[in-house]
Amino acid sequence: MDHFLYRDGVLHAEDVPVADIAAAVGTPFYLYSTATLLRHYRLFDEALEGTDHLVCYAMKAASNQAILKTLAAAGAGMDVVSMGEYLRAKAAGVPGDRIVFSGVGKTEDEIACALDGGVRQFNVESEPEMAAISRVAVQMGKVAPITIRVNPDVDARTHAKIATGKSENKFGIPIARAREVYAMAAGLPGLKVVGIDVHIGSQLTELAPFETAYKKVADLTAQLRADGHDIRRLDLGGGLGIPYTRSNEAPPLPVDYGAMIRDTLGHLGCEIEIEPGRLIAGNAGIMVSRVIYLKSGEGRDFLILDGAMNDLIRPAMYEAHHDIVPVTEPVPGAEQQPYDIVGPVCESGDTFAKGRMMPPLAEGDLVAFRSAGAYGAVMSSEYNSRLLIPEVLVNGDQFAVIRPRPTFDDMINRDTLPQWL
Ligand code: LLP
Repeated sequence: MDHFLYRDGVLHAEDVPVADIAAAVGTPFYLYSTATLLRHYRLFDEALEGTDHLVCYAMKAASNQAILKTLAAAGAGMDVVSMGEYLRAKAAGVPGDRIVFSGVGKTEDEIACALDGGVRQFNVESEPEMAAISRVAVQMGKVAPITIRVNPDVDARTHAKIATGKSENKFGIPIARAREVYAMAAGLPGLKVVGIDVHIGSQLTELAPFETAYKKVADLTAQLRADGHDIRRLDLGGGLGIPYTRSNEAPPLPVDYGAMIRDTLGHLGCEIEIEPGRLIAGNAGIMVSRVIYLKSGEGRDFLILDGAMNDLIRPAMYEAHHDIVPVTEPVPGAEQQPYDIVGPVCESGDTFAKGRMMPPLAEGDLVAFRSAGAYGAVMSSEYNSRLLIPEVLVNGDQFAVIRPRPTFDDMINRDTLPQWL
């Protein structure tokens, strides 16, 4: 459930008409709902009630300071994958002991930065990385808490570009080698092993792959404990999918996911961490865009928007579907017609939808891309020298620009000239 609903014939974000925001900030822009962000965070928190746990929001999904502060104030930890994310989390006031550092290629600078500012644990992805963390920790006179990310070789049954738990993927250490690698970790002076980490992919629409992976983690926990390791924490990653259309069957709910976690892992007495990103932010954000032109092509009508692939890359990159709805509520039963919905960027890949059935639209009309809160703004670029678009946050009847639209001078003046020009 989200808080983007039609009321009095116009789409509202909580209590604010979307058209009012468009008039104030111009289009295109991203728009987030505080109530939806908090609702989704709490669904996870409540799903794990009664179990020692921490929900670490995977901030790669949407990393604006205002979003991080909103979630941190509700008690969320953060899952970070770079120094930039780590520093953003710290800037939003998240204490180091609520920050988990994931990612396959942490550099020595990143490791030192997190050890200096405090970190709950590093999720280690390879032996060389493990050695680097130990080396940096020893140099700094510290001990780094770690888990090792295991690759359980489970098919997450999601888009190939976002599946991470098969042996062919670059992530984690093959689970069959885990005991050997944990033994190595125990022998390194700068490390303290605290648990196991697993993350098998994103936008999973069934619980079975998670369950298969978590059962393997349960077996491994017993083995590692028998080997003498202090396994007290299980980081189960993120990945629970969201409904991208209103019509299709909804993925499992956080409450069912939580129950499955308890059933599969509850007997181990471990602290549970999860790293959801998409489910917290995805349906908490929309991208609002305006129709620039209606163009009649051969056998098709193009709706040319002012938003483009550089603003929302998911359709071009993953063939992702986003519902696109008019900001003015269509008359019930209104006739629909097919449109190819495209942006102004100079590639045919800049196509959001082909033959999408929509009520008739006119130039100047506003449309909203639903489910754009996760992996939307964070994946945008300035391709075609288009400015990054603003982000706006609604809370009840208030809204605030949380990232302003830059100026063209901002963009041009970031470049520096060599002395010979
Ligand atoms: N933890 C780790 C280690 C991850 O790699 C990810 C996502 C998450 C947690 C959060 O997963 P989520 O709960 O959001 O599914 N750009 C793609 C998604 C990439 C996901 C990468 N890793 C998209 O737009 O679909």
